[in-house]
Amino acid sequence: MEATAVAHPNIALVKYWGKRDQKLNLPAAGSLSVTLAGLSTTTQVQFDEHLTEDRVTLDGEPLETGRSRRRVVDFLDLVRHAAGFRYKAHVETKNDFPTAAGLASSASGFAALAVAAASAAGLDWSRRRLSVLARRGSGSAARSLFGGYVEMKPGTRSDGSDAHAIAIATEDHWDLRCLIALTARGKKETGSTRGMLHTQESSPLFESWRQTVPGDIEEARHCIDDRNFEGLGSIAERSCLRMHATAIGADPGILYWNAATVALIHRIRRARADGLNCFFTIDAGPHVKAFCLPEQATDLRSLLTSVDGVENIISARPGGGAHCTPGPTGQ
Ligand code: PMV
Repeated sequence: MEATAVAHPNIALVKYWGKRDQKLNLPAAGSLSVTLAGLSTTTQVQFDEHLTEDRVTLDGEPLETGRSRRRVVDFLDLVRHAAGFRYKAHVETKNDFPTAAGLASSASGFAALAVAAASAAGLDWSRRRLSVLARRGSGSAARSLFGGYVEMKPGTRSDGSDAHAIAIATEDHWDLRCLIALTARGKKETGSTRGMLHTQESSPLFESWRQTVPGDIEEARHCIDDRNFEGLGSIAERSCLRMHATAIGADPGILYWNAATVALIHRIRRARADGLNCFFTIDAGPHVKAFCLPEQATDLRSLLTSVDGVENIISARPGGGAHCTPGPTGQ
């Protein structure tokens, strides 16, 4: 009744923002991402018949109260219900990168928890079914079940059974570099769930943005198939800017960026005009993720480092799906 799993975060190139069902955590539209090696979450789950309540630790700190604990306990309830037992669990999870700072720790966190908890509970589920489970914890977690280039299907069924990710190309299909420029410490002010619900409820721009998503996914898939870097970059930048525009247009508006975020956007665009093949994307936080081809990673890194307010740079590349350890990488 014990298992350990490792999962990587993923970065969306076509963004997810908005829910069609809050309780089942169903996305309002699809999305498309790259799973990133170089950053990981390791989660150990042990169901224990002698425990009277779940014991959860995150990066060595016990989670005794609060929303983060509630999310984990609710998630374990789904697994217990599916497995037909009530045993409480020890859950120990560690990130090797900053938690809840716009670096998609919820994606790798719930992907690792889904794989470890299902395995510890003896549920021999397909990757697709595990993706449906992970989605209940966090929408982007459904994508981290798969490696490489991944598409999230929004599904149409009310029970959410067709709202899961699929692999569209393996991590070996196309070697890109993702440099994550950290521009602030600590946790972000508006978490993604609150941010997207508020946007959906109060931004007049939300619905027109949502309608652009299927077309962006279709085009991005072609660019990935053809390894068309420039094409993928223009889709990723527009998807990101439009997502942020909807949030900025909420009432009151949500602005995830700081001065360094904006400086980085300008710097990356200027570098591109000067011949360096690169593009950016930004999630629900102030950090900037810059993509380039491997041979230009050193140049891009020094350029990002030179921007005022950049505190650190983390380097990542396409990586594998969530998997139990020890064991083969899941795909
Ligand atoms: O999975 P969540 O609830 O953390 O939402 C993720 C939202 C974005 O990171 C901004 C976009 C995305 O598609 O990952």
